[in-house]
Amino acid sequence: MGTMRIFQAVQVATWSAIGALAAVALFGQQPATPDDPKVARGKYLVEEVAKCQDCHTPKMDNGDLIKSQWMKGASMGVVPVSPSVNWRNKSPDATSTSTLWKRWTEEGMVKFFETGRNPRGTKAGAPMPTYMMKREDAEAVVAYLKTLP
Ligand code: HEC
Repeated sequence: MGTMRIFQAVQVATWSAIGALAAVALFGQQPATPDDPKVARGKYLVEEVAKCQDCHTPKMDNGDLIKSQWMKGASMGVVPVSPSVNWRNKSPDATSTSTLWKRWTEEGMVKFFETGRNPRGTKAGAPMPTYMMKREDAEAVVAYLKTLP
């Protein structure tokens, strides 16, 4: 009797372990999905708090954002009233497939949103804001950007 129960317990434990291993094998290497809470938070920070898309997504003539080019970089369309040497007329592609991402790496991206400084050690030109986010927020923003093709 006792042995049977132990046998069953071992069997359950073994199957759970196999299940966990299979889950790691199947999903371990996959990029984060939109259901990932970190990605969801990053999406919220990007789209609703920082409004990155207003500057990084090109617009149609009527001002609507072009969804198929989400965060792919855009022309600013506005100029400062007082001339500024640091003003940039274009924002870069900030998606996971951008050259920026390849050059900076994921950690460089996180550091940029955490410290406001890019891997060259400088701040981005205006009107890009200098964000100094909490580490976990910077990571969430980058986790979301990583899901963008
Ligand atoms: C008000 C407009 C504006 C907003 C809002 C904005 N950006 Fe930018 N961003 C720019 C411009 C313009 C540049 C180009 C700056 C440069 O070339 O130095 C830029 C540059 C960048 C860069 C490259 C920086 C560098 O040093 O080369 C990244 C990455 C980036 N933005 C991501 C984001 C993300 C993510 C958000 C939201 C959290 C955001 N931006 C919000 C306008 C904006």
